Amino acid sequence: MFKRVKPLDAILATAGKKSLERTLGPVQLTLLGVGAIIGTGIFVLTSAAAQKAGPGMIVSFIIAGTVCAIAALCYSEIASMVPVSGSAYTYSYAVVGELLAWMVGWALILEYAVAASAVSVGWSGYFMGLVESWTGLTIPPSLASGPAWSMSGPDFSHGIINLPAIVVAMAVTALLIRGTKESAFANAVLVAIKVVALTLFIVLALPKADAPHFQPFAPNGWFGPEGTSGLGIVGAAASIFFAYVGFDAVSTAAEETRDPQRNVPIGLIGSLAICTVFYLLVAAGAIGTIGAQPTALGVQPGSAEFAKECAALAAQGQNPLVCSDEALAHVLRAINYSWAGDLVGLAANLALPSVILMMLYGQTRIFFVMARDGLLPERLATIHPKYKTPYVVTLMTGIFVAIAAALLPVGQLADISNSGTLFAFFMVSLAVLLLRVRDPGRKRPFRTPLVWVIAPLSMLGCIALFVNLPIEAMLVLPIWGGIGLLVYYAYGYRKSHVGRGLMEVHERDADAPQQPVPPID
Ligand code: ALA
Repeated sequence: MFKRVKPLDAILATAGKKSLERTLGPVQLTLLGVGAIIGTGIFVLTSAAAQKAGPGMIVSFIIAGTVCAIAALCYSEIASMVPVSGSAYTYSYAVVGELLAWMVGWALILEYAVAASAVSVGWSGYFMGLVESWTGLTIPPSLASGPAWSMSGPDFSHGIINLPAIVVAMAVTALLIRGTKESAFANAVLVAIKVVALTLFIVLALPKADAPHFQPFAPNGWFGPEGTSGLGIVGAAASIFFAYVGFDAVSTAAEETRDPQRNVPIGLIGSLAICTVFYLLVAAGAIGTIGAQPTALGVQPGSAEFAKECAALAAQGQNPLVCSDEALAHVLRAINYSWAGDLVGLAANLALPSVILMMLYGQTRIFFVMARDGLLPERLATIHPKYKTPYVVTLMTGIFVAIAAALLPVGQLADISNSGTLFAFFMVSLAVLLLRVRDPGRKRPFRTPLVWVIAPLSMLGCIALFVNLPIEAMLVLPIWGGIGLLVYYAYGYRKSHVGRGLMEVHERDADAPQQPVPPID
């Protein structure tokens, strides 16, 4: 299996058949990145980060952004060398062979599909807030949030099923099956909406910030109290990492970029830097105005204990940041800017579905490529006769995303997604080094600077964040991996096209579905 490598030349030959025009400059790339990055992370997970780290979550944002920037430099080298779809899965197939590629592809299901679920739950929180603010009606919480989970299983006392999250996940799935192509214009408008909403938040909240709200700064310390996992400043960094995921959109646009050696790093680091500045200012505004202390030390957001504490506080008329499902709108309402809270809520409701769309699309694309490689049943890659989209795999993915969104809290979904993403980033960083050794002469439109420092640092950063996820999220990766191995040996191992000596590469077949989100003009 390790010998089953898809030759890079075969991949590149097919990719080269229909090479794209190099039109993107640094500004467009940066905008593309900002559009793909900003989402549930900042709009919603700010509450979960506060429960884990308190005001120290500001430092968590810096740690997570730094790990992403380093990983991004590795991602770019390989994305510019192997500019085909399938992301880390395809790169791994060319470098470390079929078995590990399969495992990476399998982990990417966690990254993309579970992230789509997380963003759907995030959308649901803002939707509920907006409905309540506009109509005064409240959807019963048991129908608008899933159960709380702990090692002993689900606790349905505060939530049973998240209906709005199911609706948005299925609506986006339907759009993808119809083959919607977001216009470049619509994409630019959505980026603008998100940026304006965050700017409005900063402008209104920061002037009202008070220094005492930042004390105590790190109630859970760096790593959380003894005997807990995934808490403290570093634990919050492992969770808030989710807020930066999506920058790979810039790497994957390398093929369409003018002077990629210069512009790809500008786009990546530029978009990560812009988002980091926004995130830090937003976090400072939220903490400074209404405080960000955890309900109690050592309690995980999303746990049954946490749900109980929030319910008790609500009964006393208190609604702290950490308990809110719509963190930013909640802060604005709490400081008497209800109109602005509604506007930010509206912005989140309008813009978050495009993040779900990108994640779901990324997932179907990876399944599609895996099915065409013979590692999954080819029937999954069936194209709809009328809409020309891979509707079977899209529908299956959509149903999976909706079920996960219905039953799990946003923070836990984000943590699970992070475990898969960190694994994929680790593999990509390793692949960059392996390729430098094995294939030093190959053309690299973008070369990672100081690769022997940056790539190992990226691997270390991924491991450091991974081991600071909550234990449940950490366990998901090996369990999911074990299931993946079983599936591989039961199916892919025998059916693999590479294993059977077929070397075709399907990524750019005439009937392959198109990207739904074209670059911004
Ligand atoms: N970074 C994206 C978000 O926060 C995934 O929603």
